[in-house]
Amino acid sequence: MKFEKNILCIGAGYVGGPTMSMIAFKCPQYKVTVVDINQARIDAWNSDVIPIYEPGLDDLVKKTRGRNLFFSTETDKGIREADLIFVSVNTPTKTFGQGAGKAADLQYWEKTARQILANSDSDKIIIEKSTLPVRTAEAMERILNANSKGVHFEVLSNPEFLAEGSAVQDLEAPDRVLVGSRETTEGIAARRTVVDIYANWVPRNRIIESNVWSAELSKLTANAFLAQRISSINSISALCEKTEADVDEVAYAIGTDSRIGPRFLKSSVGFGGSCFQKDILNLVYICHTYGLHEVADYWESVVKINQWQQRRFILNMLGNMFNTVAGKRIALFGFAFKANTGDTRESPALAITRGLLEERADIIITDPQAIPHAKEDLKDVKHGLTFESDPYQAAKGAHAIAVMTEWKLYAELDYQRIFESMQQPAFIFDGRNVLDHRKLFKIGFNVFAIGKMPLKHF
Ligand code: UDX
Ligand code: ADP
Repeated sequence: MKFEKNILCIGAGYVGGPTMSMIAFKCPQYKVTVVDINQARIDAWNSDVIPIYEPGLDDLVKKTRGRNLFFSTETDKGIREADLIFVSVNTPTKTFGQGAGKAADLQYWEKTARQILANSDSDKIIIEKSTLPVRTAEAMERILNANSKGVHFEVLSNPEFLAEGSAVQDLEAPDRVLVGSRETTEGIAARRTVVDIYANWVPRNRIIESNVWSAELSKLTANAFLAQRISSINSISALCEKTEADVDEVAYAIGTDSRIGPRFLKSSVGFGGSCFQKDILNLVYICHTYGLHEVADYWESVVKINQWQQRRFILNMLGNMFNTVAGKRIALFGFAFKANTGDTRESPALAITRGLLEERADIIITDPQAIPHAKEDLKDVKHGLTFESDPYQAAKGAHAIAVMTEWKLYAELDYQRIFESMQQPAFIFDGRNVLDHRKLFKIGFNVFAIGKMPLKHF
């Protein structure tokens, strides 16, 4: 079969995999190939157990794989055949040298650009899908267009706004799609080509066109604003605990103001995920680079409050469990950074686990999807750590339960049964405010939630 376009995506991760599956599903007239250097990941995409847990994605892949969606490790061949190349390789925070701990590590991106250059003998549109520092497109253009082959590359920014756990829904009906390009004739023509892909299923009025720098910066800014809302409500949660105000009531009351809106006001043990902290630190680094130190400090405080919220949770557990958790069995309900994903990147559960292990607690981790990643994250830990898929078994004999992830199943457990199997006095620390606290208190638990007065029997 002859396809209208050959689309390639480099990087088969949480962004590339779902996004390309949706494009392939909605556009059977295009051939979509996803490549990755990680053979095991590609093998998983080609198997019955795809490498990421994402509701609805399995089905999408089954319907398209082998029809017009292909997963492979043959990057060079993919580049040669492609008209458009989406790049969604990882851009973690730099761990070394200048900007360590803040700046984005662009080594994977630059390697990809050089590989594209080496294997191209026709003009191509390159689309940044990974979140990148503003003006990365400029560096990419320089690398790509410094060639003597007479090949021209247009570098566009088309940031992905999907959230994990709801990726399929977000891709199917996005609030908006953003496509940024140079404002030249070639740039605008390339932008239209990308807009036309999304227009196969996204209403035109939801597709925003902008210059390439605005598109890059909008992605960082959107994540910074979302994270800022969580840190704002989390800062208020600490005040609620001192004043008998209830943070969920405060969030509801302010969220009904249409100027504020109700979403992203759920107080928690802290935000996690691969994007928020990384993108804010990236923003902070860029601001410092331009001498905008006050702007940098402003955004850095969002991350600081998030780290403090996690530390506060540990101190709260410690203080309420008679100032020691050494040798006490503590069951962590959930390890993923949010519900409906197996992803544990920057999960608050990781910081809580390490904090409690330092206090010599015995930690038992349960999660319906994230245990394999949790084991990998904590593989250096030699003592005091167990994994258990059944929450009832995890809680058996425990002194305390700490809810780390808002999985629906944790609200539906039989807590009477759990209480009877635990050490007494039994404690619950609800880091997501998802349990029925009054009911737990009546059963006999001592209940500590975020931004609420404790319910204690002593
Ligand atoms: C985020 C952005 O939402 C998405 O647009 C972007 O493309 C990638 O980064 P993601 O990290 O997948 O998506 O999840 P998100 O739903 O934003 O949650 C991030 C973290 O914030 C989670 O740990 C979540 O539990 C926490 N959170 C979210 C809260 O603590 N309270 C809230 O009200 C909302
Ligand atoms: P994200 O959440 O942004 O999608 P992931 O880490 O899940 O990030 O995915 C990025 C993917 O990019 C990984 O599977 C990684 O193996 C892949 N990758 C990194 N560098 C290259 C490269 N040069 N060529 C192909 N794939 C790459």
